[in-house]
Amino acid sequence: MGVHGAAGRGPQSHKMANPAFYETFQVSPQEREGRFFYEIGNRQWDIPKLREILGQVASQGNSFQKLLVEHDFPAIGLRTMLLNARAAQQNGADKLILLTITDITDLKTAEKSSKESERKLRVLTSRLLTTQERERHRISWELHDEIGQGLAALKVQIRAIADKLEDQEEKKTCEDAPHYILQIMRNIQNISLDLRPPIMEELGFFAAIKHLVSEFKRCFKVRCLLVIPDEPDELLDQSLPPESQIVLYRVMEEALANIGRHAAATEVSLRITRKDGGIQVNVKDNGKGFDIAKLRALKPEPQTVGLMAMEERIRMLEGNLNIWSKEGKGTKVYFSIPIEGDKPEA
Ligand SMILES: Nc1ncnc2c1ncn2[C@@H]1O[C@H](COP(=O)(O)OP(=O)(O)O)[C@@H](O)[C@H]1O
Ligand SMILES: [Mg+2]
Repeated sequence: MGVHGAAGRGPQSHKMANPAFYETFQVSPQEREGRFFYEIGNRQWDIPKLREILGQVASQGNSFQKLLVEHDFPAIGLRTMLLNARAAQQNGADKLILLTITDITDLKTAEKSSKESERKLRVLTSRLLTTQERERHRISWELHDEIGQGLAALKVQIRAIADKLEDQEEKKTCEDAPHYILQIMRNIQNISLDLRPPIMEELGFFAAIKHLVSEFKRCFKVRCLLVIPDEPDELLDQSLPPESQIVLYRVMEEALANIGRHAAATEVSLRITRKDGGIQVNVKDNGKGFDIAKLRALKPEPQTVGLMAMEERIRMLEGNLNIWSKEGKGTKVYFSIPIEGDKPEA
C-alpha cells in the first residue's frame, strides 16, 4: 500500500491522501478536508511518537526515513507500517509534509518465520550431528566388543572341534574356518576404527591429530606439515573440552579427506594455534582449488554435505569457519573456536 498524505497549516492538518489511504483506514469523504491528520479515520493515526516526529518535520523542515510504526489499527488490526516523511514545500504559512506509508506487515511476518525456520534447522542439524557421533561410537563399540568377542570365542570352539575330528577331510575344513573368521574380525575392526577415532580416547586429542596427519600422508602420498602449539600434548588436551575435541577432529578429518579426494595437492599444511582466547586451525593445500560461489549457487542444492557439516560443527562450538579457494590456486580452510577460561594472549 503506498499512501501519500500531506498536512497543511501546521503538522496536524490533513490536506489530501490517495484513495488507498482513505480506503484502508476507512476515512469518510466528510472528514477528508481540513481535518487534523490525527483526527481522520477515527483518530487511528493518533500515535504520540508520530505526532512528535511530524511536528519536528514541520517546524524544522527536515525529514525522516524508514520509521517503523507498529500499531493496532481498529479496521485492519495490528500492522507494521514503514513511514517516510519530508517537508515538501513551504508556502507562506502553509507547511506541507509529504508522508508515505507502506504496510510491511506481511514482509515482517515472512522474515520472522524464515528466521525461525532457519533457527530450527540449525538446532536440528546440530542434534543430528551429535546423535550421529553418539551412534558411531555405540556401533563401533558393539562391533568391537560384542561381535568381535563373539567371533573370537567361535574361533576357539572351532579349533576344539577340529582337534576332536578323526576324518582328515573334515578336520582340514574345520581348521580352515578360523582363518576366515580372522579375516572377518579384521574387517570388523577396520569398520570400527573408521567409525570412531579410538586413539583419541586412548592417547588424547593431539596424539589423534598427529595420527590423522600421518595416515593422510600415508594414504595420499602427499607432504603435509603439522604445526601445533609448543606445549606438552597432555596440557594442550586439558585445555580443550572433550565435546570440542571430537568436533574439531571431525572437521580436520573432513578437510584432509577433501584434499585427498579432490585437490591433487603436493603440499599441505595443518596449523593449530592458541589465539585470542581460543584455538585457531588453518588447513592449506596447493591443489586445484574450486569455485565456492559456483558450488553454493548449484540448484538444486549441491548433493554433498561435507563442507556444510564442517560449518555446522564449528557453529555448534560457537566458532567461525571460512573457506578461501580459487581454481588453480589451492584452498584454505580456517576456523576458530573460543575456549572458556582461555585468556587472550598478551
Ligand atoms: N581442498 C579442496 N580442493 C579442491 N576441491 C575441493 C576441496 N574441498 C572441497 N572441494 C570441492 O568442494 C566439493 C564439496 O565438498 P564436500 O562438501 O566435502 O563434498 P564431497 O567431498 O562429498 O564431494 C567437492 O566435491 C570438491 O569439488
Ligand atoms: Mg568431502
